[in-house]
Amino acid sequence: MPESIALLNQSVADELQAVHQYMYFHFHLADQGYELLARLFKKTAIVEMGHVEVLAERILFLKGEIEMQASSKVEKITDPVAILTKAIEMERTSARDYNLAAQKCGGAADAASKLIFESLVRDEEGHQDQFDKQLDNVKRFGAAYLALQSFTAPKSTTQE
Ligand SMILES: [Fe+2]
Ligand SMILES: [Fe+2]
Repeated sequence: MPESIALLNQSVADELQAVHQYMYFHFHLADQGYELLARLFKKTAIVEMGHVEVLAERILFLKGEIEMQASSKVEKITDPVAILTKAIEMERTSARDYNLAAQKCGGAADAASKLIFESLVRDEEGHQDQFDKQLDNVKRFGAAYLALQSFTAPKSTTQE
């Protein structure tokens, strides 16, 4: 199923890009004292890494090779509102791409790959929803909302 393998590898590249971008966001948000938001990005990066794994396992099952290349370079965005805006756009794009990939796999009679893409759509929409909520709160209460969260956050940012 060469078409499925190409779709799966394109998705590996996009997931690796998300892992890199979200960890970059994590580092800068933690550095600026936005601990809860920093932790949300780290947690999400770990989920995206799990997506790489699911995709890679499927590629190997189909006797393809895994191309471990991120789809693009990390964008050096450090402002919390710009970070959330970028992350929402990334999740929306992923959900759209995976919906299309699921359709294509279904058309190629590859139901298992279709199911993988469908479950990724659900995860990415969940991420988008989380980031949307944070951005809504920043718009309602100002950037101070993010900084104030830090007072209720546990000390460690290395866990989760
Ligand atoms: Fe993902
Ligand atoms: Fe995601």
